[in-house]
This record gives sequence, C-alpha cells and structure tokens, in this order.
Amino acid sequence: MRIQHSRGSYAVEFGSFNQIAGMLPKSCFVITDRNVANHWKLDAPTLVLPAGESTKTLESHRQCLEWLADHGATRQSTLVALGGGVIGDLAGYVAASYMRGIAYISVPTTLLAQVDASIGGKVGVDLPQGKNLAGAFFPPVHIWICPDTLQTLNSREFKAGLAEVIKYSFIAAPPLLADLKHPLSPDSAMLPSLIETCIDIKAKIVEADEFELTGLRAQLNFGHTVGHALETITEYRTYLHGEAVAVGMVVEAIIGEMMGVTRKGVSEHVKAACRAQGLPDSCEDLQWIEELIECMGRDKKAKPATQVGAPPSIRMSLLVDVGKCKLVEDVPSKMVEAALKAC
Ligand SMILES: NC(=O)c1ccc[n+]([C@@H]2O[C@H](COP(=O)([O-])OP(=O)(O)OC[C@H]3O[C@@H](n4cnc5c(N)ncnc54)[C@H](O)[C@@H]3O)[C@@H](O)[C@H]2O)c1
Ligand SMILES: [Zn+2]
Repeated sequence: MRIQHSRGSYAVEFGSFNQIAGMLPKSCFVITDRNVANHWKLDAPTLVLPAGESTKTLESHRQCLEWLADHGATRQSTLVALGGGVIGDLAGYVAASYMRGIAYISVPTTLLAQVDASIGGKVGVDLPQGKNLAGAFFPPVHIWICPDTLQTLNSREFKAGLAEVIKYSFIAAPPLLADLKHPLSPDSAMLPSLIETCIDIKAKIVEADEFELTGLRAQLNFGHTVGHALETITEYRTYLHGEAVAVGMVVEAIIGEMMGVTRKGVSEHVKAACRAQGLPDSCEDLQWIEELIECMGRDKKAKPATQVGAPPSIRMSLLVDVGKCKLVEDVPSKMVEAALKAC
C-alpha cells in the first residue's frame, strides 16, 4: 500500500520483524523504549528511552538530537522509530528537526500505533501545558508493520488498540464488525487483514485532508471528544487511551441517538463490540460530569464561543449509522450530560 502526501508518498509494508531487520538502510539510527528493547532489537546504533508518555517531551527530543549529533548522523542518515505511538511521535519529530529534516522509517509495535499513530505524518511531543502541543506534519519514508511484535505487548495495551479498530469499523468498515464479535488476540489469524483495512481507511482520510483543514480528518475522532475529556479529568491515570475512547464511543453513540443524528439501536452495537473485546462500555466517572463537559468545550477540536461569555460549543464526530459518520458542531451540553448518565 502507498500513502500519498503533499511532498510525495511512502509505502506501508507488512512483514515479520526478522524480515525487516535484514532490510535496514546503511546509515541508520534507532530510537526505541525500554519495554520494546527487551524484546525487539535492530542491528544499528540504538538509543533506549524510558517507556511511557512521560518520555514524549522536549527534553527527550533534545536528548535524541544530541545523541544523533554525537554519533555522527548526517543528512543521509535514516532514523528508525521502533516502538508505540510515544516513540513514533517523538522520533518522527526528531527526524523532522535534525539537520532540518532527515528520513525516518516507522516500525510501530503497538496495535494503536500500527492502525493509527504511525499513519498520517503527525509527529510531536507534549508540553507541560498540554498533550501534543509541539509538533509537525512530517511523513516517514516507509512504514513497516510487523504484527509479530504484538506478541509481546501486554493484553491491556492490545485491547486498548482494538478500540481504534472498533472505531474504524463503525465509521467506515461495518464488515469488520463480524470479526470483532469474539475476543481477538495477537495470534488471531484475521489480525493482519484487520490492521490493513484500518490503515487503508486512515490513509484515504489523511490523503484527502493531510493538514486537518477540511474537517474530514476530524471524522476519525468518533469517541474521542468524550474519550479525551475522560483521560484529561482522570489525569491519564485511570484509562489507557483506547479504554477512554471505548467509553467515548458508547457515550457519543447515545448522544447521536438523542440528537436524532444516529440511527436508534446503534449505541447497543457499539456497546456490544466494546464488551466483546473486554473494553469498558460505560462511564464510571459521573462525579465529574461538569468538569467533563467543560473539558469537551476546551477540546482543541471545539469551535471557540461566538459570543463573549458563552461557553465554547462541543464538536463531535457522530455516527449517522454503522459505517457512516458526520461532524456535528454545537452538541448541547445537556445531551452530553444525559448520555453520560444513561450509559
Ligand atoms: N501521531 C498520531 O497521529 C497519533 C495518533 C494517535 C495516538 N498518538 C500518540 O500515541 C501515543 C500512544 O501510543 P501507544 O498506545 O502505542 O503508547 P506507547 O508508545 O506508550 O506504548 C504503550 C506501552 O507498550 C509498550 N510497548 C510498545 N510496543 C511493545 C511491544 N511490542 N512489546 C512490549 N511492550 C511494548 C511501551 O513501552 C509502552 O509501555 C500517545 O502519545 C498519542 O498521543 C499519535
Ligand atoms: Zn485515538
């Protein structure tokens, strides 16, 4: 598969980790994290960073740049991002800035990174003021998808990645839902083709809206307005991203039904799909309803308030039916409240 962007295109290829390990370009440097390095190694100079979101900082970015300079990396060198979305975002941003941009290959090793984070060229780091506040659009030169790397991922992380697969199924690929009726594991035979379909959906959307200008790319945010608010309010300690998105998809499907946007009964399908994969399907954080709603209004995808003093409007990608969604501005906060209580 090839993904087009404004400056060219890149291939997304599937293979085993051993296959890709034998195909690295000459001058190449690897950035990875501790958990990944314990299982997956490439034969090239490797910088191993601590695992987790706390590594996605400007401090790590500086450390990576200096490591490349210390090791004599040149404009012709290739950086390899070997890891989940944290390493992909960080290493991609390092590649975007080292010597004003060098080539990088993405080798995503979590399900979330394989179906989502590695596709679309968004790279960056967090600031103390918020997530992903420093970054760039900087596509890789190649993406290698090695489903075998998922064998060493812990099952909670794997399931969290499945939330994004469920999201793609509901926004654009209803046939996938048949494969999601029973719990999937990294061994499931249909996993590579599921991953490929998800990449294909995201690729088509980012090709059509590379820089998030037309609202098309925002469709990928089904479940994310509520999901991001849940993650923020619980300070990223309670939910993995995919778990918050699972709850978010259920709540947003209920909101859609209440608003008459989503066909009645779809929220039950969403719930069943999340439940079948062992993901949460209801919101337990009702003590923070006000804060959650305020947070949704502050979401960077929300439109600013049109009148001074008025609350900013809540914007969501809502399902119309299974396989179709649309961006809805001005979701009433009362509906959000009612849906949170109803799920
Ligand atoms: N750029 C984008 O378009 C985009 C889209 C979605 C998410 N993201 C970003 O992705 C990040 C989340 O990504 P993630 O969920 O992959 O998190 P992550 O990179 O932190 O990985 C999750 C955990 O799994 C471990 N791990 C990774 N691969 C492993 C493997 N094969 N075996 C064993 N352990 C392994 C990691 O060390 C980490 O502890 C967030 O920072 C988010 O902002 C970016
Ligand atoms: Zn997501």
